[in-house]
Amino acid sequence: MFEKITSPFIFTIFGASGDLAKLKIFPSLFALASQKRFPKDLIIIGYARSKKTQEEFRNDFIKSAKKACEHKDSKIPYCETTINNLIKHVHYFSGQYDELEDFDAYLEFIEFIAKKQKIHIPKIHITYFSVPPSVFQPILQNLALARKSEKDDLRVVLEKPFGEDESSAKKLFHFISRFYREDQIFLLDHYLGKTSVQSILTLRHNNMILNMLLKGREISSIQITAHEEVGVEERAGYFDEVGIIKDMFQSHLTQILAMITMSIPITADAQSFHREKEAILSALDFSPRPANVFIGQYEGYQKIKGVKKNSRTETYFATKLKIDRETWYGVPIFVRTGKKLAKKLTTAVIEFKKLPFQKNIEPNRLIIELQPREMIHIKLINQYGESSEYHEIGTSESIACRGEDCLPEHAHLLLDVLKNEKLHFLSFPEILASWNITDKILYFLSRKKQPVHVYPKGSTSPPGIEELFQKKGEYWFEIRGE
Ligand code: BG6
Repeated sequence: MFEKITSPFIFTIFGASGDLAKLKIFPSLFALASQKRFPKDLIIIGYARSKKTQEEFRNDFIKSAKKACEHKDSKIPYCETTINNLIKHVHYFSGQYDELEDFDAYLEFIEFIAKKQKIHIPKIHITYFSVPPSVFQPILQNLALARKSEKDDLRVVLEKPFGEDESSAKKLFHFISRFYREDQIFLLDHYLGKTSVQSILTLRHNNMILNMLLKGREISSIQITAHEEVGVEERAGYFDEVGIIKDMFQSHLTQILAMITMSIPITADAQSFHREKEAILSALDFSPRPANVFIGQYEGYQKIKGVKKNSRTETYFATKLKIDRETWYGVPIFVRTGKKLAKKLTTAVIEFKKLPFQKNIEPNRLIIELQPREMIHIKLINQYGESSEYHEIGTSESIACRGEDCLPEHAHLLLDVLKNEKLHFLSFPEILASWNITDKILYFLSRKKQPVHVYPKGSTSPPGIEELFQKKGEYWFEIRGE
């Protein structure tokens, strides 16, 4: 039996006719329903501009839930009874985002549905913004203005990207703060919904042995990799405007980095974790030198529909960073991420210092595999017969969820919103800090035009990224697959 949400709630999806809603949100609601987590009094409303009948919308909902369950990686089986029970609570409202009257009508629609379902209007109202950031503001404003009383418990879930740089993110947060309290806002980065990413904190929080190891003084370098097999596909128009630095590095990778290097707070509440993450993110530093950054683009990228002619947008990015803290002095942090590579791989490798007599041997490494395998292992040298060899003698159990527990990332996070738990969300200051380091890198790239290295599709990694290493014996540690 899974923990149940007992309080009735309304769940509104703005942008309910879009791809994100179909790919992530409907299947997540279905997954939570199949774990029987929902109370019997709930109202789910899709709000979007397109005209649709209730039946058409319900069909879209059912289709996406079914498709997601049939995906090879899905751990949630499709079940007719679950969907039949859930779909009764699903409704559609068609309205504009910038018309206050439509929001008034929408709130009346909620009253009408509650009456029809013979329930009181639930106090908790979760709104998920499955819309492009360009329409965040009119929705935020109209939703707040149309609200009849402040007695309800309105929670707003926004997904990255939050702004385009530090200054626009600041403006967005300032705008949000005019209408909402910070505790009402859930800033979502779906990487924080991955069980394997969450495990980094759980493991660190509960195992002193890991925390003792993860001290800058003991570490010679950290390498974070996020390689993808997919290219930009049908998101070319959007991607060409942003590039991989903003798309992957700005939030997903800085978050992984922060979780590995942050101090673990004694008070285990969300606020304390956010404070420590912000502290380490603010200490991230980039020395503006050509040797510290590499950008690449996969072959054929410029021919994709939606990509500008002669586009210099990077589909690969590698960099060397440091943490401006006495304890992390001299520890380089290497980060690389790219699209259209040989395989999907998200990992963090922590390499430990050696003593002079260990000159000709491999260093110890702590390896955290986040995707597609989810495990943590330690590489040690040990005596085998007459020789000492590099072996993996400490391999942990998988750090993934098991069997029925497994929820999609968004489902984990939506469940947290329902429980009003913020640990796996971002805070405004964290986001500003990660924009700050991202802006620094982008500013350097805009001033000093770096070559965009073209790499073949399906490469393991683009040739040239090893140039970031300036010390003898440093190289990208490649993890063997299964
Ligand atoms: C998204 C990026 O935030 O994360 C995409 O916009 C990227 O470009 C995706 O493909 C990767 O997520 P995941 O969960 O597949 O690693």
